[in-house]
Amino acid sequence: MRVNMITSEAKPFLKVGGLGDVTYSLSRKMVVYKIPTSITMPYYRNIRENKLGLNIEKVSTFEVRMAWRKLQCDIYKTIYQGITYYFINNDFYFDREKPYGYLDDQERFAFFQLASVQMIYEMELAFEILHIHDWQTGMIPLIYDQFYKGKLKKEPKFIYTIHNPAFLGLVDRKDLYDYFTINESYFDNGLTRLDNKVSYLKTGIMTSDRITTVSPTHAKELLNGFAGRNLQSCLEYRKGIVRGIINGLDVKEWNPDTDPFIHVNYNKENVLSRKIENKIQFAKEMGFKDPSLPLFSIVARLTEQKGLDLILDSLKEMMDHKCNVFILGTGEKDIENKIAYYQSVYPDNFVAKFMYSEELSHKVYASSDFFLMPSRFEPCGITQMISHRYGTLPLARATGGLVDTIIPYNGSNHEVADGLLFTEYNKNSYLVAFKMALELYKHKRPFSKVVHNAMDVDHSWKKSYLEFRNLYLEAMGRD
Ligand code: ADP
Ligand code: GLC
Repeated sequence: MRVNMITSEAKPFLKVGGLGDVTYSLSRKMVVYKIPTSITMPYYRNIRENKLGLNIEKVSTFEVRMAWRKLQCDIYKTIYQGITYYFINNDFYFDREKPYGYLDDQERFAFFQLASVQMIYEMELAFEILHIHDWQTGMIPLIYDQFYKGKLKKEPKFIYTIHNPAFLGLVDRKDLYDYFTINESYFDNGLTRLDNKVSYLKTGIMTSDRITTVSPTHAKELLNGFAGRNLQSCLEYRKGIVRGIINGLDVKEWNPDTDPFIHVNYNKENVLSRKIENKIQFAKEMGFKDPSLPLFSIVARLTEQKGLDLILDSLKEMMDHKCNVFILGTGEKDIENKIAYYQSVYPDNFVAKFMYSEELSHKVYASSDFFLMPSRFEPCGITQMISHRYGTLPLARATGGLVDTIIPYNGSNHEVADGLLFTEYNKNSYLVAFKMALELYKHKRPFSKVVHNAMDVDHSWKKSYLEFRNLYLEAMGRD
């Protein structure tokens, strides 16, 4: 079985959020278990500028047709940790400052999808499984069906993983032809249309052989009409092939005992004495006035999903209870502005850095006492798992994968708890959990037990890798 992941993000070349962690670390696990796995992704500018010391060579050039356009496509290739990476390039679409955030993103990823399948044809590659991810790849099974069925060396099966259903990949009816050279009659045949638009995400759901969401709870949420995004009926229709498989974590990379970025390394045996050294150093570096206060942190894309407003609206009460709060993130300008305003109100206890920094993120996980995830929705969440690994207790809203990965402290179950949860998306509900966290923090014995429990959780890919492998085999009819 040969697997090709097609994705807009994969470490170590490009990561904006958890998608980049998952495509890489799942592929890595596959390779370790001797399943040849490759990744196809765009050749973003940052990759051509920083090749990470790797030999990235051009291996093919062909012309991609998008209705009346004929566009040059160059394929680059490298091997990293046993994973073959194929990079799709067209200068106009991908030689840009950022990976996303342009008005023509849908057109850019139309090109990417067409080119990804054409690459398999032109280079005569053979994959039994095409594992596609999120809206940027949802049209691929339909593209295959329209143009390549019976023409590839292997007939692939399509596994579609929905990481973030908030992004539907919407285009107009006319774009079916204008981008994909697909007849507009496909707008009304039930495969592509969501309300009055074509949705790449819906198309992926309707045309793939298997669909996965990134946690079992989120699968239920989606089937129950998640956030009114109108996917419920098509998911209901495909229910029999939907599975919720929780993401794993790259436990080698995220390991406080060997982490090269943090001030002092530690493990479960010495976490209590060593973690505090990280905290004091970090708090000094970041300019907190009293480094000894409990530290609550966030590392996140600053989007509505992540629920930052709940924290900002509760800051006054949090500050009354004496704590430090740190945010690392980039994203929507109005959220950044609101955070910047509160920094000026609480300069001694509230610090934010608006940047993307792997290194700083490692320091945050290693230095914090609690990690805040007040998400409105969270399909899986990687950051609570990293927090566990670093003995930092997640304080999260009970939604999606957060329900599946956190055993909440209830005031007395410190023997088993490994974090805190609150249910309602409102200040009161959040502050109850926040106060419970502070109470726990004050009582060293139960607190240290919960920290140890967190560090004991097995978030490795072991179990989920097997679920994916079995799903691939099932899709191939070999179960
Ligand atoms: P999402 O995919 O919705 O953004 P996840 O919790 O699944 O949320 O994954 C987020 C990933 O991105 C984590 O690995 C987190 O450490 C990382 N991350 C998010 N923002 C930043 C940032 N500003 N700097 C460094 N890493 C970040
Ligand atoms: C998405 C989700 C996040 C998940 C990640 C990786 O970005 O927002 O919850 O962990 O994908 O699957």
